[in-house]
Amino acid sequence: MSAHTQCVIRGTFFDFTQTVNDVDALPGVTRIIEDGVMVIKEGRISRLLPWETGHHLWDDCVEQHDLSGKLIVPGFIDCHIHYPQTEMIGAFGEQLLSWLENYTFPTERQFDCPDYAARIAAFFLEQLLSNGTTSALVFGTVHAASVNALFAEALRRDMRLIAGKVMMDRNAPDYLLETPEQSDQQTRELIERWHRRGRLGYALTPRFAPTSSPALLEKVYALKQAWPDVWIHTHLSENRDEVNWVKTLFPDSQNYLDVYHQRGLTGRRSVFAHGIHLEESEWCCLHKTQSAVAFCPTSNLFLGSGLFDLHSKWRHQVSIGMGTDVGAGTTFNMLQTLGEAYKVGQLQQYRLTAAEALYHATLGAAQALDLDSFIGNFTEGKEADFVVLDPAVSALQKLRLQRCTTVEEQLFMLMTLGDDRNIAQTWVHGRCAWQRSTQEQAA
Ligand code: GUN
Ligand code: ZN
Repeated sequence: MSAHTQCVIRGTFFDFTQTVNDVDALPGVTRIIEDGVMVIKEGRISRLLPWETGHHLWDDCVEQHDLSGKLIVPGFIDCHIHYPQTEMIGAFGEQLLSWLENYTFPTERQFDCPDYAARIAAFFLEQLLSNGTTSALVFGTVHAASVNALFAEALRRDMRLIAGKVMMDRNAPDYLLETPEQSDQQTRELIERWHRRGRLGYALTPRFAPTSSPALLEKVYALKQAWPDVWIHTHLSENRDEVNWVKTLFPDSQNYLDVYHQRGLTGRRSVFAHGIHLEESEWCCLHKTQSAVAFCPTSNLFLGSGLFDLHSKWRHQVSIGMGTDVGAGTTFNMLQTLGEAYKVGQLQQYRLTAAEALYHATLGAAQALDLDSFIGNFTEGKEADFVVLDPAVSALQKLRLQRCTTVEEQLFMLMTLGDDRNIAQTWVHGRCAWQRSTQEQAA
């Protein structure tokens, strides 16, 4: 299902024209068009011009959307999230390993039931859209049914979504374990069924090193050899106890990342969630292999995992994208996620500007997922995935907005005070896929 309409949109536009390797280069690629006009044809961005030079485009088009006063940014890209954990968000009191045991594994058990999976998948995707997130890299559970349900719902909504079945064969309850052979077979079937269908992509998803035997990781490698354009999505160095456990489980590896790297699982389409407790040599390896990291501030704070190091990200030129990591993360909302990222920076004397934060949630994230030729900004020809932000929906926001003199200040205000009420519309592939109702606006 793709849109074949043509329409034109007027509003304030904010994006980044190019990817950068140096944070100081960001101002040079930041594009702000305070009064602009964007033409969308067949689901793609066909033109974006300032009103003065582009108003004839408005007159030429039958379907016009006047969004003056709204701020239009590229659709948010969530680089790490678990859809089966939607219903257990905000589970009290644990750090990673006991949180998995006490809350996560029992919740994920339910996803062997296709009807249950379909219900949560639909709910999950509506949460993404109502929070302005148009693309995501998503964990399923170990059950093929979980991934079938999610892809079916994402296909209906025409979303660019990457997901995969969790692969795990040890250190979890029996009811979630599989053999490497079963994991391999089910993953093959899922790739054949879903990879590159519509806007969907498949990610090989070994949960993390502790639940993976060497034999399972060999299967992951063989699958990557068979389908080189699938993604690899796993966790890396999130929690100190986890890092120590990995040392005992894989004594021959130099460090946590080396468990994956030795087995050929690093590279351009490998995305590692967290990367909090990395050694210098692991940063170097991420850089050399062009692997990416998902920075998940609300999760890292909620589970007390630690603080992601943005200084090192830039120093080593490692691609990153923002992740919410629901259900360890505490919100689907990217504005709130960016606000927490700012605080993670503050605790380390790193000053995260609104522009940099938005970059990590849009074009930077697209690059981290190797999708930047399709999505991430308003370059002509890219897929028209974008969010329409209402910069002031509460009395406090309205008061604060009066003090904002630049669009960047508005964005920073939204990172600090914003939430899903600020998401006026979410557009997917040139179609308005979600709109905040007037009832909700009044609430
Ligand atoms: N490490 C292994 N599994 C998980 C998970 O489900 N969530 C998080 N945050 N970390 C993990
Ligand atoms: Zn996670």
